[in-house]
Parts: sequence; structure tokens; C-alpha cells
Amino acid sequence: MSSAYQIIEHRYDVVIVGAGGGGLRATVGMAEKGLTTACITKVFPTRSHTVAAQGGISASLGNMTPDNWRWHMYDTVKGSDWLGDQDAIEYLCREAVPAVVELEHYGVPFSRTEEGKIYQRPFGGMTTNFGEGIAQRTCAAADRTGHAILHALYQQCLKNKAEFFIEYFALDLIMDDEGTCRGMMALNIADGTIHRFNARTVVMATGGYGRIFFSSTSAHTCTGDGNGMALRAGLPLQDMEFIQFHPTGIYGSGCLITEGVRGEGGYLTNSEGERFMERYAPNAKDLASRDVVSRAMTVEINEGRGIGEQKDYVHLHLEHLDKDIINERLPGIAESSRIFGGVDVTKEPIHVLPTVHYNMGGVPTNYHAEVVTLKDGNPETVVPGLMAIGEGACVSVHGANRLGSNSLLDIVVFGRAASLRCAETIERNAPHKPLPKNAGDEALARLDKLRHANGSQSTAEIRSNMQRVMQKHAAVFRTGKTLEEGVKKTQEIFDAFSDVKVSDHSLIWNSDLIETMELDNMRGQAVAAINSASNRTESRGAHAREDYPDRDDKNWLKHTMVWVDEQGQVTIDYRPVHMYTLTDDAEVVPPKARVY
Ligand code: FUM
Repeated sequence: MSSAYQIIEHRYDVVIVGAGGGGLRATVGMAEKGLTTACITKVFPTRSHTVAAQGGISASLGNMTPDNWRWHMYDTVKGSDWLGDQDAIEYLCREAVPAVVELEHYGVPFSRTEEGKIYQRPFGGMTTNFGEGIAQRTCAAADRTGHAILHALYQQCLKNKAEFFIEYFALDLIMDDEGTCRGMMALNIADGTIHRFNARTVVMATGGYGRIFFSSTSAHTCTGDGNGMALRAGLPLQDMEFIQFHPTGIYGSGCLITEGVRGEGGYLTNSEGERFMERYAPNAKDLASRDVVSRAMTVEINEGRGIGEQKDYVHLHLEHLDKDIINERLPGIAESSRIFGGVDVTKEPIHVLPTVHYNMGGVPTNYHAEVVTLKDGNPETVVPGLMAIGEGACVSVHGANRLGSNSLLDIVVFGRAASLRCAETIERNAPHKPLPKNAGDEALARLDKLRHANGSQSTAEIRSNMQRVMQKHAAVFRTGKTLEEGVKKTQEIFDAFSDVKVSDHSLIWNSDLIETMELDNMRGQAVAAINSASNRTESRGAHAREDYPDRDDKNWLKHTMVWVDEQGQVTIDYRPVHMYTLTDDAEVVPPKARVY
């Protein structure tokens, strides 16, 4: 290898990139099966963004109301606005029950009912009997469910002797000439050493790309690094135009206020004190699906019924709730509202507005978590040696809009699915193949170039431009004109990166360099998202076009696949949605009007 860098070599059965809930669930599963397992993470595992998940994880346990995984499947298909793959959704909803019971056994401290069962609360779009009643399906550990899950999983990983590479930044995948993933390259942020991992399988669990937007509930670390690596490896991303706005971000800070607040009886009002959701969703009201509530809030604000000096937020009330409910079930949001909103929730409403929260799109996979791509006309060709799970993946169980509490479920179910698949397919005792001769050279050349980048624009400046463009041009409501302008501006931002300046050339604790590599990952995703949105001339789920207000199943019941090359040039293709189930135990949910 012709590199000026000193490289430390590693060899594992499986390397998992990312230590959020998905990464850790995969890590513990692989280690339990006796696979040699390494988890590489740019932040300490329990600081991963899963820690911020509040309201809960869905599973049809039926602890509070009668329930059935088929009802959960129906809700998820409808929530997805029929863009979700129904075989994968069946898998998600069936496996939810054993996956949550497993979490309980791993030690997750769920809140309890009087009888000692796992407490479950109502969440948006979750119903009983195929849309008839409101289900209590979301299993909660107060309003800190992600925190509870992440800590329990990390302890299980340590117990099972998985190895961690903490504060290592993933540089790139190692792909061979046949298109098989053979490992990955990483930089140890603390000491600047370079690490080359030879792995039989790499699992990308790198999370979403919320930080391509200005105002987001996502942590600053949510830069979609795996998606960036996939694009550089010549792989497509899927359904990138579907970006979820959570209805209740705190005005000004973007901090999340869980949907669990509305599940516990909270409600929204406009400047006239009206509970406006009754007009938009007569049955589900404040517990309609997120895209529906976010659009309703935006209409209220746009039509002049917003609150405050700028009339640009609405009120979320929970001051009518019993203080014991707030203390026991919503202590975290009471604290966040005080710190980030200056509000005592027992006395006054919280000021909220829709805030970017989740990416439905990502690296396409099948329900085994194996990455798929378009090859020889088949858009579902498995990429050997590569898996993706969680928000960075698109399996696709959320389609055009995710239901709240299906995200913690997704990471746990597909983290588990990845480990089940690896246990089945990996030949543990076979000798590791040597890596290709020039493995990692391109990654190191890119690192070198970025480290010494000496242009005229700072990383922060380019990033801020990108975030403002995305906020404006890929908003809750979109039009052909705003999207076309967005396409042009994101291309300019993509190009501006060649003029970036990194002020510190060191490899050790160089946050400017790390942020520059994150920006390199994000710029391709911004281009992918806005081009995919501009192309899709219909409204579906979170993609709401004022110029094409209706869903168009005749022309658009299909997934977008998008490639972005080194110059930012975009190629778009489409693949059919799976309108079939995995087994005969479930029935296909045929498309119909989506009302709540
Ligand atoms: O509202 C919430 O607690 C968020 C949950 C989710 O995004 O699944």
C-alpha cells in the first residue's frame, strides 16, 4: 500500500459503524452469536442520538387496549401513505413483540402499569381494529425511552465482549472490483491514527441527515455519514425526498417535545384559542399522523392564526393535566420546556412549531438489512458484505411518512434482523480473504486533500448556506418553483466545497477536519434530497406539493433511487413498491384515501 500514513490493521467477522440503538442492537446480537464484532462510533455510545428519543417504542403487546400486529401493520402502511414495502412492514410489526420483550429482558426499565406490565401510551396514527379506535401501543420508559434502551443495550454489548472503537470517524467503505464490501477505513479522532478494518460484513448504522437543515430536533452529529460513504461507493440512496417534520419542536431551539404529550391528553391551539386539529382530523384530532398535524399547523400559521409577535408558532397545552402524570410520565419535557422554552408546563402552554425530525429515506435494503442496488436491471441486487439499519437505511417500512414510535422499533427489529442474518450466512472459521491491494488508498487521498484544503470559505459558512437553503426549499409545503431553485442552489453549495478552507492541518483532535468530512457527507445528501423532491410531481406523506396536491398512485407508487457522483451530478431511477406480504398470515393493505 502506497500511503504516507501509518495504518493499524484489524480483522473481524462484523464491523458495525454507529452505536445508536440500531448499531448497539446489532452489536449485541452479533456478539451473542459468537461472531467477532467491532463497533466503531464517532461519539461515546450512550451519547448517540437515540438517547434523545422520548415517547416510546411501538409493539402490539395489548397491555392497555386489545391489540394485534396486523392492526399495527395496517396503521404503518396507511401512515406510510402506501409507499412502504408491505413485506418489510409485516416483518416489523410481527417482530415488534419479541423484540420488545427481549429489550425488557435486557434490562430496559420500562414504566409499568398497576399490574406490573409494560406501560403503553397512545401515539399518532396508531389505531385498533384497522382504524376504528385509538390504540395504546407505544411502550414507554417515562419520556426517556431512547435513553433507557441505549444504556441497557450498551451494557449488554459489554457483557458479551463486543469491542468498541470510540471516537473513531468512519472515512469510507472498502469495496472490491466485484462490488463486494470488504471492510472500512477509520480515523481515531483522539490520536490521529488510521485504522483499516477487514470485515466479512460491514453494517452501517450511522443515523439520519437531519443536520442538512437549519432547524432540526436531530443532534449535531446527525450528518448521515453512512449515506455519504454509500454515495462515494457508487451506491444509490432511496426516497430521500421524504423528510419528516415533527409537529412539536420548541419555538426557537428546535428541541423535541414528545408526541407522548398529546398521547397523555395534551392538545394544540391557535391564536384564537381554537383546537384546530378537530377541523383537519375529526376522528384522531391531535393524534393524527405527524405529516397531517405538521401541515395543519403550517396552514394555521400561514393563514394568520399563529401566535406571538411574528405569528409563527402555536400553543401546546398540558397545564390541564394532573401534575402526577407530568411528574411520572413526562418529567423530561417539563425540564426541556423550562430550559429551552422558559415555560412552566403546569401553568402555561409551550410555544411549538413543526421542526425537521426524521429521514424516511436512506440506503436501500431488504428486510434482512442487506443493502440492495440496481444491477443488470434488477434494483434489488444484494451488495455482498454490506448491511444498513436504522434511520440511515430505507428498508422501507416508513414509506413517505413514519408513525411516531416506529423508529425505535425499526432500529431494534432490523438491528436484530442483521445479526440473525449474519449468524446464518457468515462462515466464522473460513480464513479472511486478504484485502484488495490498494484498499483504503482513495479514502486516505481524500483525507489528505481535505486536511490541507486551503480555499476561501470556511466549513461553517458552506454548511450554514446549505442548511438555510434546505430549510427554505424543502419545507413542509413545496412547489415546483421553490424546488427548482433549491436544485440550483444545492448544486452551487456542492461545488463551493472545492473552495473549502480547513484551518488546522493536524490529524489529532481536529474538530474542523471532522466537521469538514461531515459536510462532505451531507452535501451529496442535500443534492439527492432536493432533486428527488423536484422530480416527484405528486403529494404523498411528508412530500406535500402545492402544485400537485394529490397522491398519484398511477404514476408515483414507486421508490426513488438516486445516485450523486463526485461532481454532484445526479442520476434518478425508480423501483416498484412491494405491494405483497411476507407470509399468508397478513393481507395486503390496498391503497385508499388517507383520512384520520
Ligand atoms: O414524539 C416523540 O416522542 C418522537 C418519537 C418518534 O419520533 O418516534
